[in-house]
Amino acid sequence: MIPQNLIHKLPKLQTPLYFYDMELLQQTLDSAAKASRHFGYHIHYALKANFNVKILESISATGMGADCVSGNEIIKALQSGFHPGKIVFAGVGKSDEEIRLALEKDIFAFNCESLQEIEVVNEIAASLGKKARIFLRLNPDIEAHTHKNITTGTAETKFGISPLETELYLKQQEHFNHTELIGLHFHIGSQICDFDVFRELSLKVNEIQDHFEANGIQIQHLNMGGGLGIDYKNPTQNTIPDFKGYFETFHQHLKLRPGQQVHFELGRALVAQCGVLLSRVLYIKSGEHNRFAIIDASMTDLLRPALYEAYHKIENLNNNGNTDAVFDVAGPVCESSDVFARNIPLGKTVRGDILAIYSTGAYGQVMSSAYNLRSPARTLYSDEME
Ligand code: LLP
Repeated sequence: MIPQNLIHKLPKLQTPLYFYDMELLQQTLDSAAKASRHFGYHIHYALKANFNVKILESISATGMGADCVSGNEIIKALQSGFHPGKIVFAGVGKSDEEIRLALEKDIFAFNCESLQEIEVVNEIAASLGKKARIFLRLNPDIEAHTHKNITTGTAETKFGISPLETELYLKQQEHFNHTELIGLHFHIGSQICDFDVFRELSLKVNEIQDHFEANGIQIQHLNMGGGLGIDYKNPTQNTIPDFKGYFETFHQHLKLRPGQQVHFELGRALVAQCGVLLSRVLYIKSGEHNRFAIIDASMTDLLRPALYEAYHKIENLNNNGNTDAVFDVAGPVCESSDVFARNIPLGKTVRGDILAIYSTGAYGQVMSSAYNLRSPARTLYSDEME
């Protein structure tokens, strides 16, 4: 994951720096593509996880589609080689301009999240003389057993159409004659490692499909969202997620109708492990109770620990021996939450050492900010190194 030629460059490395292992990315994509092909499933990569053009180009080259959540993501996906006919557009708050753009670009489908959104999509499609293909994103009220901030399928979240609005839609759907309902969409959360959650979702989807059929509606497509988790604890040993087991769970439990197509919107599982944030130790300081390694990366480069108390494995690449030395690793930003880890065994660590913060390819660089007027981290791709 960290190649030898990079280790040799450590003293001169300009940090903080996002390093991407493009070979690992390719292996991960190949594994996902192979597993999905086995079941005849379609993958739409969730751009929000990482929208660096080089990464997008590697993904579009596999023939995968794209899951976009803004007009700008649609534009970026098209510029990076994704086929418009494989782009889905999700999000609870699509603006009129974004809806117009998506219709003009003739994307595959909108994942609609409210009755009013369907009305607006219908109106805008009518004004353009088009028919919008839509999925209903339904809220199945399922607990994903992941962090509460990345849970999206329970009734109290803002996501998806409630059973109440679904019934209203079923009564009014003939009015929306500039839309064509082609599928149902679900996404119940992210970083889900317990496959039972996906079994539960599949069973719920079976019930929902029966209900639609009882109302005379045949569903051509099911989009089961993303959510497959990765191994943050063992990023260097367990690099490629269990795509086969993930798809197998849906294969076993979803009751598909003849000819029905199944789609997924994977983000994290495809790109998380190929990214490593490298940061230099600026200072070592002793507090009353703990010792701090203050590093040059901060929550402006990687927000996950501050926002979700997320765990990322951290290693000292200078590897000075003496594994028992324990540190809190913190960034320079003026916020108490700008801490990457507490009490972790880094080994002997001194000013100038380089730390690797693993599993940062997804929701890392893309969630950066300029808070404290900090400069963005640099980027290095393994296939561009001398
Ligand atoms: N589809 C929809 C509708 C989504 O909202 C998401 C992620 C995905 C697909 C992709 O999910 P994935 O396969 O990556 O789990 N910033 C958070 C994660 C937010 C996920 C938002 N939605 C984090 O750093 O953990």
